[in-house]
Amino acid sequence: MKNLTPELLLDTAAGVTTLTIHRVAKKNSFTTAMYAGMAEAIKQVQADAAVRVLVIQGHETIFSAGNDIADFLQNPPTTLDAPVFRFMRAISSFTKPIVAAVCGPAVGIGTTMLFHCDLVYAGDNAAFSMPFVNLGVCPEAASSLLAPQRMGYGRAAEALLLGEPFLAEAALEMGLISRIVPPTEVNALAQRQAQKLAAKPLSSLLATKHLMKQGQADLVAKRMAEEGTLFGRMLAEPAAREAFSAFMEKRKPDFAAL
Ligand code: COA
Repeated sequence: MKNLTPELLLDTAAGVTTLTIHRVAKKNSFTTAMYAGMAEAIKQVQADAAVRVLVIQGHETIFSAGNDIADFLQNPPTTLDAPVFRFMRAISSFTKPIVAAVCGPAVGIGTTMLFHCDLVYAGDNAAFSMPFVNLGVCPEAASSLLAPQRMGYGRAAEALLLGEPFLAEAALEMGLISRIVPPTEVNALAQRQAQKLAAKPLSSLLATKHLMKQGQADLVAKRMAEEGTLFGRMLAEPAAREAFSAFMEKRKPDFAAL
């Protein structure tokens, strides 16, 4: 499988495709082209009978700073066909196991994509956050449904309404991640676990994941579409404009009048 953009590295070996987010200078934030590349990569892995497991990893210091804010301002996702939404649908409906290796900050979609991964291994430097309200937008990737389910309403409210980060220990306790190890060991652990999965019968893996997820697959798809429509609309509104301009101008946003 070939690299689809310079910021997304794809490597396939022994039934495992590893997708490395590789844009460290911009904290692994995602551009429209990267979302298109990730959606395409997931589609290819889904269709490739030789691949049984997908691993998604970032860098030892940063998993992802979420949407590239400058790119978002230039190419706002105004329809559900936008690459960001195609990526979300692709990862949430992917039927093979996904293993994620997370170190450092995982912001916005850096965290919400993890709700769609099966095994998540984190470095003790991992910090998860979903600061959508702070950016004048709303949750995405069905996180408004999945965060309260996985974290309990109280902790989801702190994470989604206050936009407060939570650390690896908290993520482990709430079941978002499976294990914490030193950052230098996370990728290797993810690979070992992926290899174990790849040695198992694919039909059993597919059936088991399907059975675990099928109860609310329609609900997830519906919520993701609702969030996407609202998110696209809110991006054009004053609160998001202020938040995004403040980020670009490296100042605190002022929501007093909004
Ligand atoms: N979009 C675009 N550029 C981003 C970015 C993003 N989401 N996150 C970081 N960058 C850029 C910075 O602008 C900076 O660029 P510059 O070197 O050209 O000035 C570079 O990446 C380094 O970022 P910096 O903030 O200096 O790194 P840090 O180590 O101090 O902090 C983060 C790392 C991830 C905590 C911080 O960058 C951050 O909070 N980013 C924004 C996250 C966010 O709100 N994402 C949107 C979610 S929907």
